Amino acid sequence: MAKTMREPLGRVIVLIPTYNERENLPRIVGRLRSAVPTADVLVLDDGSPDGTGEVADAIAGADEQVHVLHRTSKQGLGRAYLAGFAWAMDRGYEVLVEMDADGSHRPEQLPRLIAALADADLAIGARWVSGGAVENWPAHRKALSVGANVYTKVMLGMRVNDATAGYRAYRADALRTMGLQGVESQGYCFQIDLTVRAVRAGLTVVEVPITFVEREIGVSKMGHDIIREALTSVTRWGVTYRAGQVRGLVHHRPAPTSLLHRPREGVDS
Ligand code: GDD
Ligand code: MN
Repeated sequence: MAKTMREPLGRVIVLIPTYNERENLPRIVGRLRSAVPTADVLVLDDGSPDGTGEVADAIAGADEQVHVLHRTSKQGLGRAYLAGFAWAMDRGYEVLVEMDADGSHRPEQLPRLIAALADADLAIGARWVSGGAVENWPAHRKALSVGANVYTKVMLGMRVNDATAGYRAYRADALRTMGLQGVESQGYCFQIDLTVRAVRAGLTVVEVPITFVEREIGVSKMGHDIIREALTSVTRWGVTYRAGQVRGLVHHRPAPTSLLHRPREGVDS
């Protein structure tokens, strides 16, 4: 089947959500500006009490490729990214990247993620694929991540191995087809939500192996409320999906779209 010719990639922006990351932010922006100098940066700060917003403004004041979106209060990762996507798409960026501020997502691996968009709509930096890895992550976090991804695969019939991953690159024109106005996910299940939407929209999703390195400074914002939201959302989406399959069998209709997805061969960092 002829490969669909895709638009050249165009302007890239990296969205970095922050909540109390004042020491990490200068480090990650410095590494990113060296690793991918042509990429612009948008910091999405949720009114961090530690002054991350002021640190971001100082960086942006000295570098015209760095921008800051100040938000008034902590509203969750999902809402921060949705605001960032809108800001970036309003300004004509064609590639939108998600990257944590705490160094867990290595900017040095970003070129491979962007390159994977040459024939895909979404490139996920995946830990749970051949060539992927995690470093210094506590066993309970590994278990939570693997468990969440297995549960997601079983409930939603998806072959994506790391649907919860937060390091990813989207083509902007693909994001526009995913019904973002309907996204209600606030916490980290936002990542699963958008993966499901990409698949259901018939987009090409590839997984690129990355090494996730646990942060050295500050603390994770992962909490029980975030876990509970992910569990209830995936269960609700899964029951709806599986019920649709059963109805399809009873009425001899084709089952709902499963996954269009091709894992990418291993790439080193
Ligand atoms: N603006 C904003 N608002 N940023 C937030 C919020 C929020 O409510 N909550 C977290 N962040 C930022 C953090 O400051 C950091 O830059 C990034 O989001 C990731 O937060 P962590 O708290 O470090 O996440 P984690 O390391 O526990 O979880 C990682 O793995 C999850 C499961 O794969 C992250 O990569 C998640 O994105 C991922 O879903
Ligand atoms: Mn982290």
